[in-house]
Amino acid sequence: MTTPLPAAPVPAGGPVDTSPIALTPARGSDLDAIWSAVVPETRVRSNDIHLPVSLAYAERLCDAHPEADALLVRVAILLHDVGWGRVDESRIIAEGFTGDWRKAAIRYEHEKQGCEIAREVLPPLGYDDAFIERVAAIIDGHDTRAEAYSLEDALVRDADRLWRFDHVGIALASGWFSMDPATYCDRLRAEIVPELLTQAAIEMALASLARSEALLKTDVLR
Ligand SMILES: [Fe+2]
Ligand SMILES: [Fe+2]
Repeated sequence: MTTPLPAAPVPAGGPVDTSPIALTPARGSDLDAIWSAVVPETRVRSNDIHLPVSLAYAERLCDAHPEADALLVRVAILLHDVGWGRVDESRIIAEGFTGDWRKAAIRYEHEKQGCEIAREVLPPLGYDDAFIERVAAIIDGHDTRAEAYSLEDALVRDADRLWRFDHVGIALASGWFSMDPATYCDRLRAEIVPELLTQAAIEMALASLARSEALLKTDVLR
C-alpha cells in the first residue's frame, strides 16, 4: 500500500545523509533487470546520468522515511523519465525547457509513454499488476501534477529534483535551460528548494548546493 502524505515539509523519522551522493551509489542488483530492459530509453536526455543519480537519492530518502514502500519508490524513480525515449527528440529542448515548460504537451507525452513502458517491462520480470499500477500512478503526472498523492509519490518527486543540486546535475540542466551555472544555482535555491516536500530532501539539497557552488566558484564566475 502507499503511505498517506503528511503536510510538507515531511519530517524524517530515519537518518538523513547529506554527504556527496557519489559516496552512496544505489545499492544492490535487484533492479538490474529493469535497467537492462530500458537501456535504449536511458540514452535520451541524459537519462543515463539523471536516473541512476536520482535512484541513489531516492534510496537515501527511503532511509530517512522507513515507513515508505521503498521498492515502489525505487522502481518508480528508475522508470519515471524513460518515456523521453519515445517522444520526438527534437521537441525535448524546443518545448520541454522553454516557456511554461511544465505544461508543455511533450511533458504529458513523456509521462504517458513512461507508464506504457512500465506496463511493458515489469510484467515479464515478475511484478504484479497492482504494483505496476502504483508505479504508473506515480509516473503519471510526475512533472505536470501540482501535488503528490502519497509519501512514496513525494519521495519520487524529491529524488527527481535532488540530482540537480549535485554538480553533475548542474552541468547538464544549466545547459538545457541555457543558463550559466551560477544563475542556475540561484534558480535552484529560489525556485526548486521551496518545491521539495520532505525535510530530508531540503537538507540534502542545501548541503549539495553549497558544495556545488564552492566547487564551481559561482561567487566569482557570474
Ligand atoms: Fe519527467
Ligand atoms: Fe526526471
